[in-house]
Amino acid sequence: MTETFEKDGEVPLAPDDGLVARNFVIVPMTSADLPAVVELEQQAGLSSRGISGYERELDHPQAVLLVARVNFPNDLAKPLLAGALAGRMIVDEFEINDVAVCSGYRRRGIGESLLRAALKRAQELGARRAFLEARAHHAPALALYRKLNFLELGRRRDYYSNPLEDACVLACELPRL
Ligand SMILES: CC(C)(COP(=O)(O)OP(=O)(O)OC[C@H]1O[C@@H](n2cnc3c(N)ncnc32)[C@H](O)[C@@H]1OP(=O)(O)O)[C@@H](O)C(=O)NCCC(=O)NCCS
Repeated sequence: MTETFEKDGEVPLAPDDGLVARNFVIVPMTSADLPAVVELEQQAGLSSRGISGYERELDHPQAVLLVARVNFPNDLAKPLLAGALAGRMIVDEFEINDVAVCSGYRRRGIGESLLRAALKRAQELGARRAFLEARAHHAPALALYRKLNFLELGRRRDYYSNPLEDACVLACELPRL
C-alpha cells in the first residue's frame, strides 16, 4: 500500500442519517474490494470491466485504482466501500475510466477526494495531462470535473447508449511535481 495517496476527510452527518459514518479514507483498491467495486459500478449505471478485468488491472503497474472507505466510530462494523476510481497512465497522460460513489454517500466530498488523490498519484507517475469522458447531460459529474479544472476538449456524438447520448471529452493540465 502506498502511504502517499491516503487522504482523510470529514463526512458531515445529515440529521436523519441512519448510519454513523464520521470519516472516510482514500486507499488503493485490493482484490478483496472487487465484488463491492463491481456492484457499485452496476448500481451507478456504469459499464464495468468485471472482477476478472479488475484482477488483471490490479497487476498493471500503470493502473491507478482507488477506493473510499467509510469508517464507523464504534469500530463494530468493518469499513464500508463508499466509492471507487479506476484510471491508467498512458505514457505521460492519465486516462480516468470510472469514478463512482454509493448513492447514500454522495455530496460529501468523496468523489472529489477520489479524483484529487488519483490526480496526485498520476502526477507522481509523471502525468502531464488527465483525460476523461462523461455523458454530456450528467450535471453532477460535469460539475465535479469542472471544479477540478477539467475543460471540455470536444464531443463524441452518440457515444453512450441506454440512453443514447453524446460524450464530453474533458482534460486538465497537471503541473510537473
Ligand atoms: C459524479 C459522482 C462521482 C460525484 O460524487 P460525489 O461524492 O457526490 O461528489 P462530491 O460530493 O465530491 O462533490 C464534489 C463537487 O462535485 C459537484 N457535484 C457533485 N454532485 C453534484 C450534484 N448532484 N449537483 C451539482 N454538483 C454536484 C459539486 O461541484 C461538488 O462540489 P461542492 O460540494 O463544493 O458543490 C457521483 O454523483 C456518482 O457516483 N454518480 C454516479 C456514477 C457516475 O455517473 N460517475 C461519473 C461517470 S463520468
